[in-house]
Amino acid sequence: MTKIRKAVIPAAGFGTRFLPATKAIPKEMLPIVDTPTLQYVVEEAVKSGITDILIILGKNKKCIEDHFDISVELEQLLSRTKKDEYLKQVHEISQMAHIYYVRQKEMNGSGMAVLEAEAFVGNEPFAVLYGDDIIYNPQTPCLKQLIDAYDKTEKIILGCQNVPEEEASKYGIVRPGATKGKYTEVIKLVEKPDRDKLPSTLASIGRYILTPDVFDILKHTPPMPNGEVCLTDAIQTIADSTGAYAYTFDGRRYDVGDKLGYIQATIEYALRDEKLKDGLVKYLKGLEL
Ligand code: G1P
Repeated sequence: MTKIRKAVIPAAGFGTRFLPATKAIPKEMLPIVDTPTLQYVVEEAVKSGITDILIILGKNKKCIEDHFDISVELEQLLSRTKKDEYLKQVHEISQMAHIYYVRQKEMNGSGMAVLEAEAFVGNEPFAVLYGDDIIYNPQTPCLKQLIDAYDKTEKIILGCQNVPEEEASKYGIVRPGATKGKYTEVIKLVEKPDRDKLPSTLASIGRYILTPDVFDILKHTPPMPNGEVCLTDAIQTIADSTGAYAYTFDGRRYDVGDKLGYIQATIEYALRDEKLKDGLVKYLKGLEL
């Protein structure tokens, strides 16, 4: 069986929910404490055994390339000033994986973004990670759990978690078939269903293991009324033909594409940082709410 070693990260969106911060800075570069959100996603992929990553860029995303590149001047400065800890951190970012870039010229949906990866992926199963979802699991990264699930089932895998009913309309929701432990057969993936028509509360959370047949399927998937081709529709076609599983992964998940989720992630990551924890706890306890 082909080992999964390639991952695709769509990062071409405008980040309108974070304007004005995202007018000139890509939303993927907004930091959680001191690390851009995109770096957390790349680290998850790398810790899951991924060696080659394609980031799908939009306009104004040059700083993403700079972030994962070597910065000779900065490294020389940190070395001269003996800031060894920073030097190590900065250098490691440029060595994490082979990172490639492609530019999506038109903002025509998640399906078209993934189609940009066709040449990079070739004929292998691969992972897709959305940058709006950050998943904390220091033992087994979310993507590793999904790769293991693919190795067991040889079917495409959707990383899923149950969400509260009142939030389910924000997600692709699974109409479940047979469930065994963490595996649920996907009968249908309903994109953003109305609250009174929820097929379940099992939501697809921006992590997928896909097979390369998705590219041909995407080329024949009709756009939605808004002109966008949605990855969900192509996933449905695969679920109908060869089958798909939703895998309920373990991990604390943050929706950093949403302001409240972003703030929650910032607070919880800061609380995990030994240097910040005590000061932050004291501050939070002292807040008069
Ligand atoms: C996308 C997907 C949706 C999925 C969600 C997870 O929606 O289309 O199926 O549940 O990501 O974060 P978006 O949030 O981009 O509208």
